[in-house]
Amino acid sequence: MTSTNDIRRSFLDYFAGADHAEVQSAPLVPYNDPTLMFVNAGMVPFKNSFTGLETPPAPRATSSQKCVRAGGKHNDLDNVGYTARHHTFFEMLGNFSFGDYFKEQAILHAWTLLTKEWGLPPEKLTATVYHTDDEAFDLWRKISGLPEERIIRIPTSDNFWSMGETGPCGPCSEIFYDHGDHIFGGPPGSPDEDGDRFVEIWNLVFMQFDQQADGSRIALPSPSIDTGMGLERIAAVMQGVHDNYETDTFKALIAASENLTRTRASGEQMASHRVIADHLRSTSFLLADGVLPSNEGRGYVLRRIMRRAMRHAHLLGASEPLMHRLVPALAAEMGQAYPELVRAQALIEDVLEREERQFRRTLSNGLRLLDEATSTMAGGGELDGETAFKLYDTYGFPYDLTEDALRARGIGVDKAGFDAAMARQKQAARAAWKGSGDAASSEIWFDIAEREGATEFTGYTSTSGEGAVVALVREGAEVSSAAQGEDVLIVTNQTPFYGESGGQTGDRGLITSPSGLSARVSDTSKPLGRLHVHAATIEAGALAVGDVVHLDVDVGRRDRIRANHSATHLVHAALRNRLGAHVTQKGSLVADDRLRFDFSHPKPLEPEDIAAIEAEVNAEIRANDPVSTSLMSPDDAVEAGALALFGEKYGDEVRVLSMGRKGREGRNYSVELCGGTHVKATGDIGIFRIVSEGAVSSGVRRIEALTGEAARRWLVDREDALKQAASVIRAAPEEVPDRIEALMAERKRLEKELADAKKALAMGGGSSGSAGSADEDVAGVKFSGQVLDGLSPKELRPLLDEVKQRLGSGIAAAVAVNDGKAAFAVAVTDDLTDRFDAVALVRVGVEALGGQGGGGRADMAQGGGPDADKAEAALAAVKEALASQPA
Ligand code: ALA
Repeated sequence: MTSTNDIRRSFLDYFAGADHAEVQSAPLVPYNDPTLMFVNAGMVPFKNSFTGLETPPAPRATSSQKCVRAGGKHNDLDNVGYTARHHTFFEMLGNFSFGDYFKEQAILHAWTLLTKEWGLPPEKLTATVYHTDDEAFDLWRKISGLPEERIIRIPTSDNFWSMGETGPCGPCSEIFYDHGDHIFGGPPGSPDEDGDRFVEIWNLVFMQFDQQADGSRIALPSPSIDTGMGLERIAAVMQGVHDNYETDTFKALIAASENLTRTRASGEQMASHRVIADHLRSTSFLLADGVLPSNEGRGYVLRRIMRRAMRHAHLLGASEPLMHRLVPALAAEMGQAYPELVRAQALIEDVLEREERQFRRTLSNGLRLLDEATSTMAGGGELDGETAFKLYDTYGFPYDLTEDALRARGIGVDKAGFDAAMARQKQAARAAWKGSGDAASSEIWFDIAEREGATEFTGYTSTSGEGAVVALVREGAEVSSAAQGEDVLIVTNQTPFYGESGGQTGDRGLITSPSGLSARVSDTSKPLGRLHVHAATIEAGALAVGDVVHLDVDVGRRDRIRANHSATHLVHAALRNRLGAHVTQKGSLVADDRLRFDFSHPKPLEPEDIAAIEAEVNAEIRANDPVSTSLMSPDDAVEAGALALFGEKYGDEVRVLSMGRKGREGRNYSVELCGGTHVKATGDIGIFRIVSEGAVSSGVRRIEALTGEAARRWLVDREDALKQAASVIRAAPEEVPDRIEALMAERKRLEKELADAKKALAMGGGSSGSAGSADEDVAGVKFSGQVLDGLSPKELRPLLDEVKQRLGSGIAAAVAVNDGKAAFAVAVTDDLTDRFDAVALVRVGVEALGGQGGGGRADMAQGGGPDADKAEAALAAVKEALASQPA
């Protein structure tokens, strides 16, 4: 028997031998087509090579491409388990020519491989061609020698292959294998063609057109070839079985599930084993390619597949989660051809187990409800939509699971009723939201979210990708297009741009399209927590709803944001370690240039606390351990040690971020619930530096910090300032503190000396620039008048007290000049206070200084004025007043 792995290898080797470049399977999530949920044919990764948008990897290529047909246009989920050939996951073997060979070579290669290399008997083969394709008909005649009645002209779309609503397409030629007359069915095009005897094994597409959204077709740059052969089908043929589920790979997977459930894959249980084997493949490969279960988009399709399989595991009596225990069998079968399966094995097992545990919590109750609702029904009956919705909403039963659960009993489900119940719930949510007093202007986001569903965020794993424009908003209203120079809010069905939330700032970047659009995104927001809205200015070209665009996040900026976000998690843990478990996050800001972290703590941090926290965070950074993300239920997350954020509302499952080294109990340094974007390993943060610590409100402190290049810049700036200071004081940088201390001491000493000198000078009766410096006799009274530059006003009084003592009996006046202003004081010895009033005298001088008033007592008064240059005039005025005073 030829194994499936050998057939795959043999196909690729055959075409590699015919000058085809062997290309690895692309991931299941299409990187180049946002309208497609999953890669569903071998040609999808080459779409742009056919249309001329990208240079092909080589003129000829061959691949074995992973495909998923569930949830999108091609959706086989409902039938899986009940037929011989439906799969959610399958492999498509293909050979491709990008403008190189065309029909003749394609047919020749197919015929040679099937009949010569693999030795399939020609009499078992039948070909079809598009009814108008005489060329293909003649080539088949010539190359294969098949009789004319086994080259069948088909007039329907069966022989005109298109990738989807848009994209490359062309007439095709299919090859059928006749499994023998013991099976019912007729050749293609015959009345009995729907029977199972003639099975299509290979489709040769003569790619000639690019289907446009408006229905028109434009010619491809050059005619090309795309072929697709289902590996599972050809394996069945070559292993002499009729049913794909009886090939080696499936037999091994089914044997594993038989073993673990101690049941046999026969009778009623056959479908369950098949469902499990098939869904194990699709879920494992989707998980390996980065899809995680969620309630939206691709993640929800994955969850539907998972839960469908899990119900069947339950049906087989598995009392514990089963799916994750089958992964080793899958890895053994397929891990060599697809190493990503082995690399992701631990993650796949972990997610499957958690999902199954979580689903089991509601599964039995849901099934009980389902039994009660249908207990009196017979085949042909229909479950009401309301109950189906309740199963979905309360018990986590995807719609197709309910359908699948009733299928064996011939009972259907009222889909319209289910949809109506879903719509009613959305309506109620809308009413509740309106009542919550949220800004009325954002009603527009509600409309868009309801119509288009949530934006799928692809930015955890990539920073660029394609998106289809689903809405444009200008000045508060939806528009169908936007032109150069306009500011517009752009909503796409998927985006790598992070919308501001959870403290993390929104992404910036560029949106472009092949038709010349260039829109600069200055911010991304996340209204309703579901839509990612790009605020953009159209710098070139134009944009319309329905356009497929390329989205590029500003990666440098995003990397800085990541580093800051991961650093907030580390600092949170460090704060708790250092200060105690009362520390909880009260808010945060994660921007590209800094981070801010608010936390509960009753008093300021001591400098040694800050130093210790900073050192601890930097030690984690240097350890450079990988950061890991997993999805789990909120309860599981708390059990895993995640710090739940108080007041946050969480959905069905949460993202749990683990980073830093593992401590005792095997827990990472930091485990937190978080929807933000993070570094791959803590080392990516570079450096962490706290630049300030302060109070936000009573009991809440705030740390501001820098990471990476910003932290390095900050440190360099500090160092530069230090060097500058050192050079000013002519010292080495490390001597600066001692030197400054010494300088400060010296300054203090000099200040004292200066004050003493000034005082001595004043006492000595001499003073710079003073006219009335020497004691004089004015109208029979001893008078001392001085102008003192730089003396502080409060030094006037003690100075005049000393002058009074020196005079014994007399009047002392002094002006202290500082910054162009003058302070003025007059003192009268006690024996003269009955004749002279210091207050009256001070007022005379103050007036001369351009001021007003002045006060004190009869023996000492003080005032001041703005005109310092009138200092001498003030003294003269006082002397004049003394002279005019009657004796
Ligand atoms: N793209 C073609 C198919 O999927 C070969 O059938």
